[in-house]
Amino acid sequence: MDIRFDDRVAIVTGAGTGLGRSHALGLAARGAKVVVNDLGVSTDGQGRSSDAAEAVAEEIRAAGGEAFAHGADVASEAEVADMVAKTMDTWGRIDILVNNAGILRDKTFGKMTMDDFRKVVDVHLIGSANCTHVCWPIFRAQGYGRVVLTSSGSGLYGNFGQANYGAAKAAMMGLMNVLHLEGAREDIRVNCLAPTAATRMTESLMPPEALELLAPETITPGLLYLVSEDAPSRVIMSAGAGCFAQTRVYETDGILLQGDEITPENVAAQMDQMQNAINQQELTDAFSQTKKYARKAAEARGLSLPWGE
Ligand code: NAI
Repeated sequence: MDIRFDDRVAIVTGAGTGLGRSHALGLAARGAKVVVNDLGVSTDGQGRSSDAAEAVAEEIRAAGGEAFAHGADVASEAEVADMVAKTMDTWGRIDILVNNAGILRDKTFGKMTMDDFRKVVDVHLIGSANCTHVCWPIFRAQGYGRVVLTSSGSGLYGNFGQANYGAAKAAMMGLMNVLHLEGAREDIRVNCLAPTAATRMTESLMPPEALELLAPETITPGLLYLVSEDAPSRVIMSAGAGCFAQTRVYETDGILLQGDEITPENVAAQMDQMQNAINQQELTDAFSQTKKYARKAAEARGLSLPWGE
């Protein structure tokens, strides 16, 4: 079945260039009405201009789609609220939110100012939380919402010189995990996309041959699936150059120490066993981890706990 977005309304943040532009065009090409959000800043977050967002909205309209540009700063709750109010006035619903806006302020941690740390967290984490928070009651009332948070290999795996960005991008996973649980009853599905693409953000980092393979358009189809009617929820999709993979977090079965055995020396001595991947599990929520530990300790003592499965 074709994936279509007819009668769906989407907000794409940071959609004036790069990945966001590609996502906005991809959604519009399959029928979505699109709010093209962009503050029009430089890669490090300086300046402000509506030109790029206007150009993308015009491109969509010229192709027969419906779109308007909005220059809200995602880090400003008030500006995001204005954008969402305008969307509701114009189209009466919001089905899809693609949190994509982003900046970089790279430096090694020792040389990074806390202003640069906060600024990056503000745009990526607070910006995504702002947009999702303002849309949340609308999704709940509709009984439908699709949210993507843009993470990064830097957040999932680390990248030298990106303590601010890596921390903010790892936070997307934490936000997703909780919103997935809280949104499930009202059919709000929340996923992360961890792209690697040739954009102005990365153009100086790779040879032209690699950049050519990593066009944003090779990633957008993954994003379109993550915001579709049959989307999964709580998936971290990593994507680039037409490759799509899932990043997952597992916990090993672990070891159990009891009584006087619980010493740092015994923890050190059993690191190999603790890291053994046999029977590793993907846990569904934090309390299932608590239950796992309490059950193991209780079992070793011949006790049973008053918890069902
Ligand atoms: P880009 O620099 O081409 O586009 C980012 C857009 O966000 C720009 O148009 C900018 O004006 C806008 N923006 C920045 N701050 C904003 C704010 N406060 N409010 C509204 N708009 C704002 O970058 P690119 O590469 O397209 O990145 C898109 C997203 O993907 C970002 O979240 C980035 O961190 C993430 N990402 C990109 C990777 C890549 O390889 N290009 C790798 C991993 C993640």
